[in-house]
Amino acid sequence: MNDTLGNWKRTQLCGTVTAAQLGQEVCVMGWVQRRRDHGGLIFIDLRDREGVLQLALDPDRDQASHQKAAQVRNEFVVAVKGKVSPRPDGTVNPKMKTGEVEIEVSELKILNRSETPPFMLDEYTDVAENIRLKYRYLDLRRPAVQNCLMLRHRVSRTVRTYLDENGFLEIETPVLTKSTPEGARDYLVPSRVNNGQFYALPQSPQLFKQLLMVSGFDRYAQIVKCFRDEDLRADRQPEFTQIDCEMSFVDRDDVMSIMEGMIRRVFKDGIGVEIPVALPRITYAEALDKYGVDNPDVRFNLELVELTSLVKGCGFKVFAEVAAKGGMVKALNVKGAATFSRKELDDLTAFAAIYGAKGMAWVKVNADGWQSPIAKFFTAEELSSIEKALGAEAGDLLLFIADSAKIANESLGRLRQHLGQKLGLAKKDDFKFVWVTDFPLFEWDEAEQRHFAVHHPFTAPLDEDVPYLDTEPGRVRAKAYDLVLNGSEIGGGSIRIHDQAIQQQMFSLLGIGSEEAREKFGFLLDALSFGAPPHGGIAFGLDRLVMILAGTDSIRDVIAFPKTQRATCLLSEAPGEVSEKQLQELGIRLRKPVK
Ligand code: AMO
Ligand code: AMP
Repeated sequence: MNDTLGNWKRTQLCGTVTAAQLGQEVCVMGWVQRRRDHGGLIFIDLRDREGVLQLALDPDRDQASHQKAAQVRNEFVVAVKGKVSPRPDGTVNPKMKTGEVEIEVSELKILNRSETPPFMLDEYTDVAENIRLKYRYLDLRRPAVQNCLMLRHRVSRTVRTYLDENGFLEIETPVLTKSTPEGARDYLVPSRVNNGQFYALPQSPQLFKQLLMVSGFDRYAQIVKCFRDEDLRADRQPEFTQIDCEMSFVDRDDVMSIMEGMIRRVFKDGIGVEIPVALPRITYAEALDKYGVDNPDVRFNLELVELTSLVKGCGFKVFAEVAAKGGMVKALNVKGAATFSRKELDDLTAFAAIYGAKGMAWVKVNADGWQSPIAKFFTAEELSSIEKALGAEAGDLLLFIADSAKIANESLGRLRQHLGQKLGLAKKDDFKFVWVTDFPLFEWDEAEQRHFAVHHPFTAPLDEDVPYLDTEPGRVRAKAYDLVLNGSEIGGGSIRIHDQAIQQQMFSLLGIGSEEAREKFGFLLDALSFGAPPHGGIAFGLDRLVMILAGTDSIRDVIAFPKTQRATCLLSEAPGEVSEKQLQELGIRLRKPVK
């Protein structure tokens, strides 16, 4: 017995009713988006995930239904039966899927009532995000948000189909596990059964997927949650989803071309966009040289130009000294931007300072020469050679940063990306991919005085660079690749070390002693000694990918129940305190809060 629905059976979703069904009797159910009373006639916009359908209630058709309709408020849950009819002349709405029809309601049931929602559900803007997230279940009724999640569903489905067609097996890996180093902090879970011991939530399934290759599964893939306790940004969440893949007996080209096929399919099925068959590639060194960053937005040019050797002996001390001390002087020619105001230039300087730049020099190239605080320091010859190097013409704005290579590249590179946005060079509906390859294997950490793995410690060195592992680790390049889309790293992977000795050497270069290596990664080292095939893989950030496909700027828009920048869930109020009893069972006593 179901008293609420009685014998009513829904015939279809609201948003799917069209003029092809004129004259048919239908039964639809949904939420009241809006009610309008028109002298006797009542119109209700009824919404479900497929769209909005107009209901028309005429007191002459059914008095009781009309009376009930008069009581409904926004977000009431309503079921109706009625006939699909053409809308009267002049009221057709070509913007709506259902805009040619309305339902002449013969019977209406109120299935549930609703409090007045804390915000209007039919407009997207204006609502503060903390309110939206607190009432996320209401926010998720909005078509724009629902569309993001429906797109996400389609992307996941396409990915699964493609990977299945290409021989990947979906195999689940554990969530309660040991630390996998991907560069972030671990989320830890205390063990009740083994007091004093902790599981780590996976930063990625990296080690397990490699073990699956050792086991002979050949190709593995999983759409999987990963957990990283790191500082959050617009494109980062503490728990996020990877499309995680691993393949045996492959080299870099194999992985990259299989994955290009997947991305192509995702863009075609997801948003109808055709992606070229072979995506462009650049090396890490080239990316830094041209764009200053390893995740360049290649929708626009605006390339960095290095002037270090050119300004070595110049009259401007800042440049000459940086060049003499082994630093780097780089510049950007912002075409036609000589019109920027003083305030705009100050803002750009402040922006560069975020990335450590100690200053930013600028030159407005006017028809009658340079307008610039630094013009006076250069000879006419120097001016013209700088102009030549930058291809400067009247009307251009030249920006210079002199610093360590790292800071000069990063600050000018970020400035470039910022200007791409500001000047409208980066178009939202333009999708430009680039593979970045040949990353350095190691990165030197000044503070800790040791090397870190740029990708992760399981990444193989380029064969020709193996001889430098002991002598010059800093110059060893990795068999690693990132896929960058519009300036966002959407995926990254590598060919792995399958040789136990090299893996051991890698750990020791990373300052991980053999005892620590055994304790942390003994199972991997053992596995590598039992016939590990050459293998490699990649993981894509599903959330980031869908975010770009959906054209939104926030990763939270494509996650049903996202966390805030402070890693909290405003809806469930996680994280929360736990009872003394739970702590006791776990053998945990809290420290006094550190002042
Ligand atoms: P990596 O650490 O590069 O590689 O992660 C792969 C991709 O996951 C996405 N991503 C994130 N998305 C949202 N929030 C985050 N906090 C976050 N962190 C990463 C990015 C990134 O490109 N095990 C390796 C892959 C491999 O070598 O096969 C790994 O995890 O889009
Ligand atoms: P100063 O001589 O310090 O007044 O600087 C003269 C100009 O050089 C100013 O426009 C500064 O912004 C710029 N400048 C200072 N330091 C740097 C630097 N490291 N790189 C580029 N420009 C700089």
